[in-house]
Amino acid sequence: MTRVLVTAALGTTGSLVAESLRTRGHEVTAASRRATGFDWYQPESFAAALAGARAVYLVPPAGDPEPAEVMTPFLAAARSAGVRRAVLLSASPAAPGAPGVGRVHRLIPDYFPEWAVLRPTWFMQNVLTATHPHAVSIREDGVLTTSTDGASVALIDAGDIAEVAAILLVGDVSPNTDLVLTGPEALTYDEVAGVIADVTGLPLRHRNMSRPDLQAYLGRFVPAAVAERLAALDRIIATGSQERVTGAVRDVTGHKPRTFRSWVVGRRGEFAVPAGSAFTER
Ligand SMILES: NC(=O)c1ccc[n+]([C@@H]2O[C@H](COP(=O)([O-])OP(=O)(O)OC[C@H]3O[C@@H](n4cnc5c(N)ncnc54)[C@H](OP(=O)(O)O)[C@@H]3O)[C@@H](O)[C@H]2O)c1
Repeated sequence: MTRVLVTAALGTTGSLVAESLRTRGHEVTAASRRATGFDWYQPESFAAALAGARAVYLVPPAGDPEPAEVMTPFLAAARSAGVRRAVLLSASPAAPGAPGVGRVHRLIPDYFPEWAVLRPTWFMQNVLTATHPHAVSIREDGVLTTSTDGASVALIDAGDIAEVAAILLVGDVSPNTDLVLTGPEALTYDEVAGVIADVTGLPLRHRNMSRPDLQAYLGRFVPAAVAERLAALDRIIATGSQERVTGAVRDVTGHKPRTFRSWVVGRRGEFAVPAGSAFTER
């Protein structure tokens, strides 16, 4: 039995990592501001969160463009507290050493003898997560809006990410490398909207926009800086670089990652589009 500190423990992946660890018989310290008062920007909150932990699941502080600055003191505190293993949630486009989370990636092996960096593609959950612009766009306007120009992305279920994380946090072997995690198939957002429409019967469509138009559109829902970042991320997909499918989920868990259709079937009752939206004809 290992005690694992899970950051962002009420969030999309953290909640599932915590659940998966508990199911495997391990103890979890759930860390976030709402869960326990753990705050990346309050170093005095670190010691209580780290008490007894031998492994940590790290989700960088949301919205911080350079999280290495605030995470470095925590990594040092974790090492001093006896943490041997860390699993960092990064993202598929974030190469080691790249600005943002890529810089945290580079730091991890300096602090922990056992580690992994997870680099998932875009989450399937984005179309339902209450505050994500994809979900907001569907809910408010009845349309899935991107600037991806018909390119595909191998969307992944956060449940698969969490299972990989849990196994790597407490397993006998630590990979000491980064893993690009993808779903089983690359889909265009036309296809993503089509699957949701097919499974739910809702008249959902995908609408492609230019980057400036998307930025302006997203600015209705999120702060301008976030809208700019999200629109830029879509342009990464538009290059075609996110079409790859890796075997990493299967290698770690022993099973194939979940398909988008199967995930939508499991959540079908949670989708809704407004009546009378401009996209209601099918
Ligand atoms: N969505 C995608 O498609 C995608 C794809 C690849 C990678 N990612 C990466 O995934 C990460 C987000 O992971 P997620 O979706 O599992 O998390 P999430 O659902 O966005 O949850 C983030 C959590 O962080 C906590 N938090 C925010 N500020 C904090 C602070 N100052 N101190 C302590 N906790 C704080 C919040 O809880 P409290 O309010 O309780 O503190 C919140 O629940 C991001 O780094 C993103 O780059 C996302």
